Amino acid sequence: MNYNNLIVAHDGNLATVTIDRPKKLNALNQETIKELQKAFAELDSEKEIKAIILTGSGEKAFVAGADISEFADFSVEEGKKLAANGQEILFDFVENLSTPVIAAVNGFALGGGLELAMACHFRVASHNARMGLPEVSLGVIPGYGGTQRLPQLIGKGRAMELIMTAGMIDVDRALDYGLVNNVVSQEELLPYCLKIAKKIANNSSVAISYAIKAVNAGFKTNVNGYESEIEAFGNCFGTADFKEGTSAFLQKRKADFPGE
Ligand code: COA
Repeated sequence: MNYNNLIVAHDGNLATVTIDRPKKLNALNQETIKELQKAFAELDSEKEIKAIILTGSGEKAFVAGADISEFADFSVEEGKKLAANGQEILFDFVENLSTPVIAAVNGFALGGGLELAMACHFRVASHNARMGLPEVSLGVIPGYGGTQRLPQLIGKGRAMELIMTAGMIDVDRALDYGLVNNVVSQEELLPYCLKIAKKIANNSSVAISYAIKAVNAGFKTNVNGYESEIEAFGNCFGTADFKEGTSAFLQKRKADFPGE
């Protein structure tokens, strides 16, 4: 499929999605949000795709936020709709995707950009990356899940400070906070993420999708994470991947997971 604001590339059983609006520092306008949803849904439906890397075009930004020019004159109702629709069609969607999504944070990840990186399953950054939720400097608050996911990832006090100051943190701080898992040079960022994605691709994609569900369940208020884990654990026993994984171990050979 062709997109106006994205580049989707396949590399064997891995895919890279690049948000491609470098002149606007890859700011998320509505069209880009819809295209991202389409691209993730399509890649998730491709059985051979085992992991997805999300990054931004150019050397300056991952995503510098929601596109401010689109909502500058919105009403209260329009503001609510903007946040609700965005959360549903993209941010929650990515978080709950069966296929693992790694955010390769290659520069500014601000506002909706950091919110998008936080909706991914984990994050790796390049040395030049800067992260923050500057919304209160615009008279608004994070609306794409930032007030929820940032405290989950770095703790309430740190999140409060970052949100209230509208400040940006560098990668040393982000690493220290656990907001990113690793920091590498800009040239190494995609190769490094591909290396992790390849490790992921060696494992059972079915088990990974159950693991994503079980981990996410622990962060939902209306769901018991331990019960979700028991349910998902049990379901694994009915999969061809489980039969293959355990047989391969007992036969001392490498597993070749059918992905079912
Ligand atoms: N929405 C819309 N356009 C944006 C944008 C955003 N979130 N972030 C950057 N842009 C645009 C700029 O308007 C500029 O466009 P122009 O060349 O047509 O004027 C272009 O991207 C380059 O940005 P610029 O501000 O000139 O780059 P810089 O290097 O001086 O500053 C930032 C970089 C990231 C510090 C600055 O762009 C910024 O503060 N962006 C907004 C961040 C933000 O508040 N995000 C949260 C939104 S809720």
